[in-house]
Amino acid sequence: MKPAGNVSLSKLDRIRKHRNMTTNQDYREIRVEEYVVEEEPFYVPSSDEIEVFEAAYRQRVPVLLKGPTGTGKTRFVEYMSWRIGKMVGAESAPKSENVPANGHLPLVTVACHEDLTASDLVGRYLLDSTGTRWIDGPLTRAVKAGGICYLDEVVEARKDTTVIIHPLTDHRRTLTIDKLGDVIEASDGFLLVVSYNPGYQNAMKDLKHSTRQRFVALEFDFPDEEREAQIIAHESGVDENNAELLARLGAKIRNLREHGLEEGASTRVLIYAGRLIKEGISARRACQVGVTWGITDDPQIQRSIDEVVSSIFP
Ligand SMILES: Nc1ncnc2c1ncn2[C@@H]1O[C@H](COP(=O)(O)OP(=O)(O)OP(=O)(O)O)[C@@H](O)[C@H]1O
Ligand SMILES: [Mg+2]
Repeated sequence: MKPAGNVSLSKLDRIRKHRNMTTNQDYREIRVEEYVVEEEPFYVPSSDEIEVFEAAYRQRVPVLLKGPTGTGKTRFVEYMSWRIGKMVGAESAPKSENVPANGHLPLVTVACHEDLTASDLVGRYLLDSTGTRWIDGPLTRAVKAGGICYLDEVVEARKDTTVIIHPLTDHRRTLTIDKLGDVIEASDGFLLVVSYNPGYQNAMKDLKHSTRQRFVALEFDFPDEEREAQIIAHESGVDENNAELLARLGAKIRNLREHGLEEGASTRVLIYAGRLIKEGISARRACQVGVTWGITDDPQIQRSIDEVVSSIFP
C-alpha cells in the first residue's frame, strides 16, 4: 500500500467527492466506520493465513492474530479487509445508511491501552451546548456498519471490555449498550478481529480462556529471508542487493535473542533502514539509527549488533 504522502491529488479529490469527507489540503478526515481500504495493500503471505481468514470470515468466526511486533498483523488485516470487500462486493455492502453501499468492507481499528474502557468502545453521552447526546463508540459503529473491528493489543484493554465482546463473538452476535438499554444485532458483514503480542504479556494481562477460546488464532512470525527481502525492497524502495543484506541482518540479529535481546529486529525497522539507505545514508549508519539504537538501549547488545552490521556491510 502506498504511504499516505504518495496518494495522488486527483485520487484524493475522487475520494472526497465520493465520501463527502471533511477535508483541507493537508489532511483528510472521515468517520471511523467509513474507512475502507481502497487499494490493494502489498501483503506477502507466509502460509495459508489468507485462506484461513477467508473461511473464518465466511463462517463469521472471530479471528485472533498473535505475534511479535512488526510481523505484518496490521498489514494482514488491511489486506483481508480489502480482499473480502472486493470479493463479496455489493452482497456484503454495509447496511447502515451512514455508510455508502460501495461494496467495500469498513475497517475500524482501535488501539487498545490500559485505560481503554467498555464505554470507549461502545459509546457515551456527551454534554454540549444543546444538552446531552449519545455518541456511538468505534465498536458500535463497526457493528452497525457491518465491517471488521480490529482491536489491536487487546490484552491491554481493561477487563470490562471482555464482557462487551463476549456476546459479539459467539452465536448471539449482539452488542449490549447498558446506558441506552439497547441490544444491537450485528450487521451481517461484521467480524471482530483482535491481536496481541504474547511476548509482552504477563500472567495478569493474559487473555482469559473464556475470551481466547472464542477466536480462531493465527500465529505470525518473522518471514524467511527471501520473503523478507521482497518485503523490504517493496516497502522501502531500496535496491535488491541491499534488501537481501538487510534481510540477512534481520535473521542474524534474531539469533541474538538467546543472548539477552528481548525482541529481534522487526521487518519494520529493516524497512526504515532501507528507506534511509535509499535517501543516500550509508548502510552502516542507516542500520545504526534505524535498527541498532531502535531495538535496544543495552550498550553491550548494541555492540554485538554493530559487529553483525559491519560483517554484513563491510
Ligand atoms: N507479510 C508482509 N507483507 C507485506 N508487508 C509486510 C509484511 N510483514 C511486515 N510488513 C511490513 O512491515 C511493516 C510492519 O508490519 P505491521 O505494522 O503489519 O506489523 P504488526 O505485526 O501489526 O506490528 P505491531 O504488533 O507492532 O502492531 C508493515 O508496514 C509492512 O511494511
Ligand atoms: Mg499492528
